[in-house]
Amino acid sequence: MSVSLVNRAFLPVLQQDFSRLESIHMRDLFAQDPRRVERYSLAAANLFLDYSKNRIDDEALDHLFELAAASELGAAREAMFTGQAINNTEDRAVLHTALRYSGPDSIAAEGVNVMPAIREQRQRLADCARAVRNGQWLGATGEVIRDVVNIGIGGSDLGPAMVTQALAPYCRSGPKMHFVSNVDPVLICDILSDLNPATTLFIVASKTFTTQETLANAGLAKRWLAAGLDLAVDDNSLQQHMLAVTARPSAAKALGYLDANIFCFWDWVGGRYSLWSAVGLPIAIAIGPEGFDELLAGAEEMDEHFRSAPLKENMPLVLAVLGIWYRQFFNSQSYAVLPYSQRLARLPAYLQQLDMESNGKSIQKDGAPASWATGPVIWGEPGTNGQHAFYQLIHQGQDLIPCDFLVPTSHEAPEHAEQHQILVANAVAQAEALMCGKSAEQLRAELAECSLAPDKLDLLVAHKTMPGNRPSNCLLIPELSPKVLGSLIALYEHKVFCQGVIWGLNSFDQWGVELGKQLASRICREMCGEDSVGARHDPSTEALLARLSAEVC
Ligand code: F6P
Repeated sequence: MSVSLVNRAFLPVLQQDFSRLESIHMRDLFAQDPRRVERYSLAAANLFLDYSKNRIDDEALDHLFELAAASELGAAREAMFTGQAINNTEDRAVLHTALRYSGPDSIAAEGVNVMPAIREQRQRLADCARAVRNGQWLGATGEVIRDVVNIGIGGSDLGPAMVTQALAPYCRSGPKMHFVSNVDPVLICDILSDLNPATTLFIVASKTFTTQETLANAGLAKRWLAAGLDLAVDDNSLQQHMLAVTARPSAAKALGYLDANIFCFWDWVGGRYSLWSAVGLPIAIAIGPEGFDELLAGAEEMDEHFRSAPLKENMPLVLAVLGIWYRQFFNSQSYAVLPYSQRLARLPAYLQQLDMESNGKSIQKDGAPASWATGPVIWGEPGTNGQHAFYQLIHQGQDLIPCDFLVPTSHEAPEHAEQHQILVANAVAQAEALMCGKSAEQLRAELAECSLAPDKLDLLVAHKTMPGNRPSNCLLIPELSPKVLGSLIALYEHKVFCQGVIWGLNSFDQWGVELGKQLASRICREMCGEDSVGARHDPSTEALLARLSAEVC
């Protein structure tokens, strides 16, 4: 039976669950079952998940888990962990989990054990990170490295940028890290304006080593180095300042990078799953190789949990089926990730790529159209900033937007414990407000003392009523350490994997981004006169190009 039929077979029974639960308020579910929190919470791999504030009951959950089982999730999971070519459009294994595996077994992709190469590259990464941190890695003029600039985009940027920001307290003894991704030259120019070429090291990270934005920024960086060090652009000593991280070492070599400065990963590491590979070099330099090992260990702990925990106790799967429930039946088109931690400010952006590039698709793995909803829009901002910007819509808007509240329970600055308490109190309060809301009766009672005219009273009651019954998960994070962060990232990776399997998608390709890339190269050539603007674009694009060629200098 194909995946699509499995899904369809479950739709009627889940539709019945939806009809039963659609009109029930979560307040009543809690009233009926005082042990709801106990039953709908889980601890695994350093994290605690309270999913009691969801519009579900045992029956609906059972059916969602049955759906997962019928989608052959267990077999799909094993296929991923054991290196089968589950990325069927690119004929590739998907082995980011092997990058953090510390056990004795071999893991094969296309019949080759990948573990020796992984360990060799990890050792090279650690040696390089140590040399930069200890001041043994010297620039062309013999000075130690004070600033490291990672140049990369998408998966070659978001993971390292998010992790180094999240782990800032662990970064204090290393060089200062900077991240350049956008091709807009102001980003790199603003960063370089404060740096000294003699003490700056660039890491150019690109799986393909063909990405336009990254190569443009790397070229600019090299010219900046040459000018600042008074060297020719092709002077070999500039290479002391240029490292490459790629799955295509020959492409880096062709651009002049030294063998010793090229760090490798492989086709079977997806870009958005690559921070565990050599793409994590900026992390290893920032927090030290031991810290990087801890990050991997945290992820490995979540891998073990995901691989072995029964369906109902499996944290990634629980998050996955809840997401499917809302997307499919409540028509929730978006999903908010709300970290109550400034250090996790880049997590929503990281999860946007992880989730939306993986499951933002309309075609099933076998090429047939997916006739059900697939990946939602992922968005979010750190609390409490979001509260003063967009929470209004989550509380009273017309769409149901499930939320994940991420709440670190300890804080790095105990001297400001009171302020951390305010932060945590806000997270808890928002989840409570979303769930409980405020009824018209409560408001009438409150406003009774204000001696308002009856029509004014009615108006205010109408505006102030909070429907509640809006779902959220609460993830408690004991501390923002490398290990716990590793577990957290792996949790979301596996959630996305489970959803992809249940929706019948290939979560590991991203064909949708290709056409825009091709057109950008072509338009670029046309704009600089290397190719003439003919009648090959649509009329709107042609008109824009004509206007731009006159106006853009
Ligand atoms: O935008 C598509 C994409 O291929 C991402 O999947 C990837 O992370 C990013 O571009 C960068 O690609 P590369 O690492 O090859 O430069």
